[in-house]
Amino acid sequence: MHVARTVSELHALTSKKKHIGFVPTMGALHDGHLSLIHIAQQKSDMVVASIFVNKTQFAAHEDLATYPRQEQTDLELLEANGTDIVYLPSDELMYPDGFSTSIDIGPIGSWLEGQPRPHFFGGVCLIVTKLLMQVMPTIAVFGEKDYQQLLIIQKLVRELNIPTSIIGGPILRDADGLAMSSRNQYLNKKQRAIAPSLFACLTNLSNTIDLSNYHQQLTQHQAKLIEAGFDSVDYLELRDADTLEPINDTTEHYRLLGAARLDNTRLIDNLMCLGN
Ligand code: PAJ
Repeated sequence: MHVARTVSELHALTSKKKHIGFVPTMGALHDGHLSLIHIAQQKSDMVVASIFVNKTQFAAHEDLATYPRQEQTDLELLEANGTDIVYLPSDELMYPDGFSTSIDIGPIGSWLEGQPRPHFFGGVCLIVTKLLMQVMPTIAVFGEKDYQQLLIIQKLVRELNIPTSIIGGPILRDADGLAMSSRNQYLNKKQRAIAPSLFACLTNLSNTIDLSNYHQQLTQHQAKLIEAGFDSVDYLELRDADTLEPINDTTEHYRLLGAARLDNTRLIDNLMCLGN
């Protein structure tokens, strides 16, 4: 496995390959990230993973300073899982002094995750655009764990004509259903025991939801999350799985999405919903 820290080091390693598969990450890797590496391997000649904790997607009060950083362990995990190249750009390379470009993805960026985090998707779109232009992959794999992010990146590459296919990978979960996340490390024992009830709630809703009259069910399940021990629920929503708009008569696919807080730790999850 090779490590590249600059664009020219990266291009020296990738220039002879036709089909590059790319997995961008912020590190603190777990099996969810590694499952995306395996998907990329099946669909490309060479797999590039990046680790970059992207400051423009964190708000001032968020966990940029404390976000888990474990470069050596991450490199070992990536190597053991057959990654060919790890790209580790510096803050100075990505955001040189005077940097002022921004990307606005439009209304979808202000829904759901964008509500409490208005600058989040602008920061994600900016860094993913830069990374895609630097790595120039044929495919890039993003997890369904961040379902809104996946749809937004698909929209971004479509609208900017970036020649990369964006592929979604399924959510990897712990045995009790909790979606794997780098931020799960923040949970204490008591919180960790409460956390799987978010997935249980989505599963229960998906099995019982009445698509013609679901608002009350969503409200009841929000209350159940609080009863289970969550401190607050940011949202629990049923949306059009293709656009993330509220569902309407033309909706073909449905997605349940939720975000809830355990003290300062915010957990998100989502589930396909067949509906009744
Ligand atoms: P990060 O949170 O490190 O996630 C990197 C990728 O791993 C994302 O595509 C995310 O959806 C996926 N992922 C996380 N947990 C997963 C799980 N349990 N199962 C499957 N995939 C999972 O998402 C980001 O970083 C950043 O926003 C990034 C795209 C790198 C831009 O900075």
